[in-house]
Amino acid sequence: MNTCNIGLLVGSLRRDSINKRLADAMVKLAPPSLTFHPIALDELPMYNGDLEGNRPDAVNRFTATCASMDGMLIVTPEFNRSLPAVLKNAIDWGSKPMDKNVWRDKTIATAGTTPGAIGTAAAQLHLRQVLGCLNATVIGGECYVTMKPGLIAEDGTVADETTRQFLQNYINRFASYATRLAGK
Ligand code: FNR
Repeated sequence: MNTCNIGLLVGSLRRDSINKRLADAMVKLAPPSLTFHPIALDELPMYNGDLEGNRPDAVNRFTATCASMDGMLIVTPEFNRSLPAVLKNAIDWGSKPMDKNVWRDKTIATAGTTPGAIGTAAAQLHLRQVLGCLNATVIGGECYVTMKPGLIAEDGTVADETTRQFLQNYINRFASYATRLAGK
């Protein structure tokens, strides 16, 4: 099968990140029409216009990998009611130069989890705003998950059936859009 290549960005560098855990669960639930490629954010320096013209290798690797993907799944924590700086920084690198904006027309699904009650809604609304101005195609729907102990096991198995079904529907919808828009 001609699968869609999906870059996986997690907006947390933390080893035991609950967002990495959610990402694992979503990858596990995804149909075989999607092939995921985790893309690390931890080697990217902070954006600095003085580095343009001689971009660090880590930046070139990051932008080339993102550009080669059919779509992206972005799973992010919420920091102070917005997206974490590490994720915004990565998006900023990918957005420049304007004629090489890697986010343009990219099919993107966003998701996130926090122990807090609104499940990263504020962060994802900011994220959508940023991606919107970069001409990304962010799918509709919402994937806000309030993390509870034991909700998602270490191997990415979702314990709660309602949550599992919700995530299943969301990733299926993303797969449907991504494959259609990629013509695959
Ligand atoms: C947080 N946290 C948080 N949670 C939330 O629901 N809304 C928020 O605005 C914030 N703000 C915030 C700021 C900063 C600087 C930190 C470090 C944390 C808590 C956050 O959801 C929690 O630490 C998660 O575990 C972070 O996700 P990862 O790293 O486990 O994926």
